[in-house]
Amino acid sequence: MNNKMKIVVIGGSGLIGSKVVTNLRQRGHEVVAASPSTGVNTLTGEGLAEALAGAQVVVDVANSPSFEDKPALEFFETSGRNLLAAEKAAGVKHHVALSVVGTDRLLGSGPGSLSGYFRAKMAQENLIKASGIPFTIVHATQFFEFAKNIAQSATDSSSIRLSPVLMQPMVSDDVAAAVADVALGEPMNGMVEIAGPDQIRQDELVRQFLSATGDARKVIADANAGYFGIAVNDQSLVPGANARLGPTHFAEWLSRTTTQKTATEKQSAPASNLSGDAAKVVALLLCGIAFAALSLRNAAADDSSADKPKVAATTEPKEAKVTPLLSKELMDLPGKEGLMVTVEYPPGSSDPIHRHNAHGFIYVLEGSIVMQVRGGKEVTLTPGQTFYEGPEDVHVVGRNASQTKAAKFVVFFVKDKGAPVLVPAK
Ligand SMILES: NC(=O)c1ccc[n+]([C@@H]2O[C@H](COP(=O)([O-])OP(=O)(O)OC[C@H]3O[C@@H](n4cnc5c(N)ncnc54)[C@H](OP(=O)(O)O)[C@@H]3O)[C@@H](O)[C@H]2O)c1
Repeated sequence: MNNKMKIVVIGGSGLIGSKVVTNLRQRGHEVVAASPSTGVNTLTGEGLAEALAGAQVVVDVANSPSFEDKPALEFFETSGRNLLAAEKAAGVKHHVALSVVGTDRLLGSGPGSLSGYFRAKMAQENLIKASGIPFTIVHATQFFEFAKNIAQSATDSSSIRLSPVLMQPMVSDDVAAAVADVALGEPMNGMVEIAGPDQIRQDELVRQFLSATGDARKVIADANAGYFGIAVNDQSLVPGANARLGPTHFAEWLSRTTTQKTATEKQSAPASNLSGDAAKVVALLLCGIAFAALSLRNAAADDSSADKPKVAATTEPKEAKVTPLLSKELMDLPGKEGLMVTVEYPPGSSDPIHRHNAHGFIYVLEGSIVMQVRGGKEVTLTPGQTFYEGPEDVHVVGRNASQTKAAKFVVFFVKDKGAPVLVPAK
């Protein structure tokens, strides 16, 4: 398969997908970056037949917007069925899919754990194996960029409890390069494992990540803490002996990423602009919602900020836009007032840790957002879904789930009259 090929990358706008697209284009192939943002939706089937027409290879690196059991299973089953049927119709000769090292070892734990996500990935793999289309399934270890999510998943107050089990994580660039190599090779009708060059214990990985990104949370090794609520041991997350290893070391990536973060902050957030934006918002809301000041995003810690096109990272503001709709003193609740606002997250927007000292009721209007309060579960919300946070809650995750589409939601606060609605938190 050395000639120029048409290759469709499903999830071509994602962290891995965008890099696979670039890699394959640089090697002279005709590549279609397919995702809802480019009019191709594997859940609905929209745009699939057109994208696949004449394609020899399909690389599926899409991900479910929600990691919860039911939506994740629905995503991978429905997407898998639609995609494989469309590939059959188009005569695709090689289906490549990205899954996770140890998927078959992470299926067992109960509600609240991530095991439902791995059952969904398993369902995806089983559909591929049964499809009759020549295939290669690539099992990758955790991406370096995922260290942030591991930390968030295990945060309890100011500490993070993690099982000190062995991992062998790798950087997204090396994942993408390996996936591109596989796409250009012959179908294996089997699975290949890829991993990073070094093993490291889960607690140490997160400790080093937090230290490099200036995060004061303390990591506690706890053999019972597991991995996203799943019981794990030293064999669960590491590959077998024949894994292909990427060249990039964790320390190298950490230092590259933190250097980029500093440069990005200096370049994109001159103090005068920022305070101007923040001042406008504060003035608008009187009570001081200051999401705009939060544009000093934690670039190093974000899954993709270091990896998306650098132009976007340095020139496009990603702060949330807050628009007040209604403010009303609540006469029968002395000293309290109600405040209603809309919040618009540009693609990739993410808030630093904060709290509201208020009751907040969220209703999603457009797109998809990820929310988590400290001690709670991270949830991904889509239009029509709701979320509540109380006066004591620390909002540790608030971000747009998509790197390519905007999201919008309404928040209704019940708060002390005249008090700021948002304050930074640790
Ligand atoms: N995180 C890890 O450590 C890890 C380790 C091993 C393997 N993996 C696997 O790697 C894969 C890619 O992960 P990632 O982090 O690159 O994902 P990501 O950045 O979240 O990107 C997800 C992609 O899926 C697309 N997508 C969502 N819904 C879609 C739909 N209905 N139809 C078509 N495309 C859709 C998105 O498109 P829009 O942007 O248009 O919404 C986006 O391009 C996943 O399958 C995951 O299981 C992850």
